[in-house]
Amino acid sequence: MISNQQILNQLHWRYATKKFDANRKISFQDWQTLSESLRLAPSSYGLQPWKFIVVQDPELRKRLQAVSRDQSQVSDCSHFVVFCFQKAVTDTSIQKHLQRISNERGVTLESLKEYAKGMVSSLMEGPRAKTISFWAQRQSYIAMGFLMMTAGLLEIDTCPMEGLDPLAYEEILGLKNSEFGVVAAVAIGYRSAGDKYAKNKKVRFATEQIIEFR
Ligand SMILES: Cc1cc2nc3c(=O)[nH]c(=O)nc-3n(C[C@H](O)[C@H](O)[C@H](O)COP(=O)(O)O)c2cc1C
Repeated sequence: MISNQQILNQLHWRYATKKFDANRKISFQDWQTLSESLRLAPSSYGLQPWKFIVVQDPELRKRLQAVSRDQSQVSDCSHFVVFCFQKAVTDTSIQKHLQRISNERGVTLESLKEYAKGMVSSLMEGPRAKTISFWAQRQSYIAMGFLMMTAGLLEIDTCPMEGLDPLAYEEILGLKNSEFGVVAAVAIGYRSAGDKYAKNKKVRFATEQIIEFR
């Protein structure tokens, strides 16, 4: 088991990396773990309304950098992951999910009827239905947190990125008119020795300002 102190150390070690060492790539084994952290992230009803596009083509990276306020992380990192969300929850996506549960757990679709009703009333009929794409985007951020925490524990650097033009990303990645939209990205790799941000003191509220016991 990892100790409390080790976790705290890594939380302090992690920072939003501005300059990546373009010559260092993460190993296949490390990538496998990071990719599992995305896959195993929880989501509401387990619906996983997301997709993660790992952009490896340098030309594509250059085009994405141009619509990401020219942030060099896009091109210099080892793995560049674009977080996509499913724009709508539909009967089909719910049915597919029920079938997955039935297959994986060996339960009948009939036994999932109440669960299915709950999903439909919450996500397709209730007040949340009007803003369902925001719901899906929020789910994607959970996966983002899992990815960054896992990377931090492996002493792999990340930069979460919202400083990008989602519509331009969708155009470049051929997602226009698809069921997915772009919400953010995470650059993953190793910090460059010259990144002065690595030494910045963390600016955070005091614990008692944000955590209340009642
Ligand atoms: C969702 C999200 C989007 C962010 N977008 C960017 C970005 O586009 N570029 C960047 O350099 N940093 C970005 N940041 C990094 C934050 O500025 C940074 O996490 C924050 O200032 C705290 O610093 P630390 O992560 O180094 O502790 C983003 C952070 C989050 C969580």
